[in-house]
Amino acid sequence: MVVDDHSLTRQLAIDLLQLEGYEVREAAGGEIALEIAFEDNLDLILLDVSMPEMDGIEVCRQLKQNERTSQIPIVFMTLADDRRLRLDGLEAGGTDFLAKPLDRLELSIRVKSLIRQKRLNEDLNQSKQVLFSIARAIECRCNDTQNPSERLVDLAQRFGRHLQLSKLDIQNLKDAAHLHDIGTIAIPDAIILKTTPLTADERELIRQHVLIGEQLCQPVRELQGVLPIIRHHHECWDGSGYPDGIAGENIPWLAQVFQIIDIFDALTSKRPHKKPLSAAEALKILQEEAAQGWRNPELVAQFCDFSL
Ligand SMILES: [Fe+2]
Repeated sequence: MVVDDHSLTRQLAIDLLQLEGYEVREAAGGEIALEIAFEDNLDLILLDVSMPEMDGIEVCRQLKQNERTSQIPIVFMTLADDRRLRLDGLEAGGTDFLAKPLDRLELSIRVKSLIRQKRLNEDLNQSKQVLFSIARAIECRCNDTQNPSERLVDLAQRFGRHLQLSKLDIQNLKDAAHLHDIGTIAIPDAIILKTTPLTADERELIRQHVLIGEQLCQPVRELQGVLPIIRHHHECWDGSGYPDGIAGENIPWLAQVFQIIDIFDALTSKRPHKKPLSAAEALKILQEEAAQGWRNPELVAQFCDFSL
């Protein structure tokens, strides 16, 4: 989409892009640009900086704040070589700048490379979505409730905010809510669904799910921050957990946080052959586990504060 209040400049950009074979939308102002962006599936926006009513910086800011449009690359078109303006543009989330009058070759190269980059990001995002779908299918085999991970995602979001974690940490916790047990895909149903006590061999096999899960998610760059949570969500504060038997603060922080909400969610959820506990009962069990030395006592105390 080309956004410029000046019709001649706008038409020139449109002509150049159409010559390259692109399908182009146009907007003569900020408001209409936002409307089109929220409705259409745009690959790139060429955005004039100085426009009456709503300027390009503000348009960019609003696009970046909306989940639907935040990934669209935005190239500012600007007359002046104004450093302040460029800094404002970058701060608002702009990707690049093009000087007016537009140079056909420069425009063509920039547009091509930014659209290629956007496609790559979409592919990566799709890999993540495929993993989420697999994880959901696995959950369905031992849960009759719909979308059980959604509860955990919500809990991750709220407890993450309570702990004042960064946006990225909270996103990693939410992704872990979907993916932490994806490794159970390699474990036979007969063992996963078994209601009688497990043999030592079967227990050992189940323990492998953290390593298999880590391996499955390893190739997706976007999930790098989730890997430690997947690997270490069954470690214990006193070192008696698995797979590495690490203890205390050696356990990655997000894995410690995740473990608390995972246990709380499991205890309070309805599962086959198990009645859900009340929040108070679940908190009591977490406190007992902390007293046993299995959980970080400070974190359990924070979780109790948060839940009450
Ligand atoms: Fe697990």
